[in-house]
Amino acid sequence: MNEAKHTSPTTNGSPLDPATGLSGRRITRFLPPAFAHIPVMAEVVTETLSTVPSGPILDATIGGGGHSYEILKSRVDLNVIGIDQDPEALAAAKSKLAGFENRISLIHGRFDDLSVVTKHIGKQKLSGFLFDLGVSSYQLDNPHRGFSFRNDGPLDMRMNPESQITAGKYVNDSSEQELASLLYNYGDERYSKRIAKAIVSMRPIASTKELANIISDAMPARSRRSSGHPARRSFQALRIAVNCEIEILESSIRESIQMLKVGGRGVVLSYHSGEDRIVKRVLRELAGLDTSNSKYLPEVRHEKEILLLARKAQRASSDEISRNPRASSALLRKFEKVSEL
Ligand SMILES: C[S@@+](CC[C@H](N)C(=O)[O-])C[C@H]1O[C@@H](n2cnc3c(N)ncnc32)[C@H](O)[C@@H]1O
Repeated sequence: MNEAKHTSPTTNGSPLDPATGLSGRRITRFLPPAFAHIPVMAEVVTETLSTVPSGPILDATIGGGGHSYEILKSRVDLNVIGIDQDPEALAAAKSKLAGFENRISLIHGRFDDLSVVTKHIGKQKLSGFLFDLGVSSYQLDNPHRGFSFRNDGPLDMRMNPESQITAGKYVNDSSEQELASLLYNYGDERYSKRIAKAIVSMRPIASTKELANIISDAMPARSRRSSGHPARRSFQALRIAVNCEIEILESSIRESIQMLKVGGRGVVLSYHSGEDRIVKRVLRELAGLDTSNSKYLPEVRHEKEILLLARKAQRASSDEISRNPRASSALLRKFEKVSEL
């Protein structure tokens, strides 16, 4: 991505800050909504962790603390170390988990820095962990965070407001080629080239609504009418890039598995296929299963560190999806550590 060389005017007349790529003008006046997020497949999570030895559970993406609340309620001999890179999420988790004050530790940071967890547990190992990936409903629904294509807001999308690169930076400073591959690789967007071209021709772009309209106009009419909002995949791709969601996933899962006790369990919830492909590959490899995926060859088994508790990713029930549509894309993988290799 090229660095912004000067402060450029936006289409709403307000300058973009070259450091963040954000418009200086407030786009919408609003009151932040209360933290609302329904934990996905919470019963499966607590049931999976019901057999683990006593001790610490890492909630690597604690969000509003919904899953942690259920975990702490389900067993008095578990405590939670919760990480989130979003201070607003941590504040919500703190209030949600106020009744368990002596059994929780909250850490502001990214889950690829697990040294903070080691500092907390010393020589102890983890009894379990949960990664509930992606964004919370609160982040999506809060226009000033800039994740939503439905509400107008700044092109931000940072989960951690202290990090430097915003969606605005990607949108306004990347080359057409860089944008096209970002949209294709992280969003599976088949019209990535057309969209990238349209974005570059309309720059500078300041707001989520402007961007959503440009994306929508760049798509062929027939695909605009098909499943979901036309900007959904592009917004997902930008969010993944801004928050480095893919790069750190594999190493973080591997490291967390090393930190598990034998008998400890892990659960990973992903919400799009690119993420789940990475999780599946790592887990199959550590479970001693061949990862070549050839259906013509017999499955090769090697020494194994974990046992998969289900062969396929588990999905939410239709009942849960009707209560919480966010659960419709969830893919849950669970396993138990069976040996130290
Ligand atoms: C789907 S929400 C988790 C919701 C939570 N399970 C609950 O029940 O409320 C994902 C959370 O993970 C955080 N997050 C995403 N990627 C992260 C990362 N790499 N490091 C730390 N936190 C991250 C987001 O800020 C968000 O609050």
